[in-house]
Amino acid sequence: MTLPLLVAALAFAASASGAPLATTCDRTTLLAAADAYISAQASGSLTNFSTVFSPNFTYVENNSPSQINTSILTTPLKLDHRRTTADTTLCATFTELISATGPKPYVIGTQIRHSPSSSPQSITLIDSVVSTTGSWLFNATSTLLHAQAEDWSSPLPLAKQSSRAALQATADAYLDMWSNATASEAVAWGEPCARLEGGAYTGQGKSTDSCKAGIPSNHNQAPNTHRQYVIDEEAGSASVLCLWEHMMMAADSHEFRLEGGKLRFIHTMTVCPGKVCKL
Ligand SMILES: *[C@@H]1O[C@H](CO)[C@@H](O)[C@H](O)[C@H]1NC(C)=O
Ligand SMILES: *[C@@H]1O[C@H](CO)[C@@H](O)[C@H](O)[C@H]1NC(C)=O
Ligand SMILES: *[C@@H]1O[C@H](CO)[C@@H](O)[C@H](O)[C@H]1NC(C)=O
Ligand SMILES: *[C@@H]1O[C@H](CO)[C@@H](O)[C@H](O)[C@H]1NC(C)=O
Ligand SMILES: *[C@@H]1O[C@H](CO)[C@@H](O)[C@H](O)[C@H]1NC(C)=O
Repeated sequence: MTLPLLVAALAFAASASGAPLATTCDRTTLLAAADAYISAQASGSLTNFSTVFSPNFTYVENNSPSQINTSILTTPLKLDHRRTTADTTLCATFTELISATGPKPYVIGTQIRHSPSSSPQSITLIDSVVSTTGSWLFNATSTLLHAQAEDWSSPLPLAKQSSRAALQATADAYLDMWSNATASEAVAWGEPCARLEGGAYTGQGKSTDSCKAGIPSNHNQAPNTHRQYVIDEEAGSASVLCLWEHMMMAADSHEFRLEGGKLRFIHTMTVCPGKVCKL
């Protein structure tokens, strides 16, 4: 009898004080943390950014738990492009970074996860795919050129936004195509659609451009597993980090943009740690 009363009293106290119950999951806070991440990568310094890490914080690079103090984040990078999406349901962000004009080229996809508590030290996981020379179809100059020419503006008009379920369904169906012969039937294919795969681009500027170009014809391959999602309905984006079991157990990032319920853009980064990726 007393427990429901206590819960009710706490809920009342929280709402009466005007404090939201999950203050770290609002978009502004998530985006501010992603901006701190971007500043850290640009400066090569963790001093400011590390103040928002949770005590149990984990850093993962190319699917391996790693020491952040010796990671790519301690090398200052000239960032030619950055774009962040936010998932207010999962308390997470995805940031795409391109460094094409510095001493060594990088294209980086980073998911940052927060605990839903109101603690200011809320980042529990930074999970990055760090692609560079030797990664699948890597060419940062080309990636920059095409990423900058595409229109990923956000928020999409309400009529062009998709539900979380629809965004994830197309991402999952697409990633299932390597191991499931009928999965492609469940992808919300759109035209035009362009895929930026490493630095290779399928778009030709035609209204009939399709992301079906070059999709797997062998559906008996090892699957894409360990999928981690960041889904932003406003941006029409589903980001998935996963394990590319059919290609040298590579660390992979796929981001899908849907407009009006149809696939419009795909960006990929695929890293075969310590090796040059090949089929
Ligand atoms: C850290 O934050 C302080 C205060 O905002 C700022 O002056 C300084 O430049 C930042 N340092 C780095 C390395 O970003
Ligand atoms: C990483 O560096 C920070 C200070 O920059 C330090 O407090 C922390 O102990 C270091 N962690 C490890 C594992 O060395
Ligand atoms: C880390 O701590 C946060 C709360 O601060 C909690 O939500 C999360 O589950 C913890 N993660 C692990 C791996 O223990
Ligand atoms: C990378 O892409 C740029 C821009 O498309 C192109 O000029 C260059 O030749 C490419 N580099 C390689 C090594 O393919
Ligand atoms: C293959 O994909 C189809 C379409 O998404 C789905 O209905 C079916 O359950 C999938 N099969 C397996 C074995 O996952």
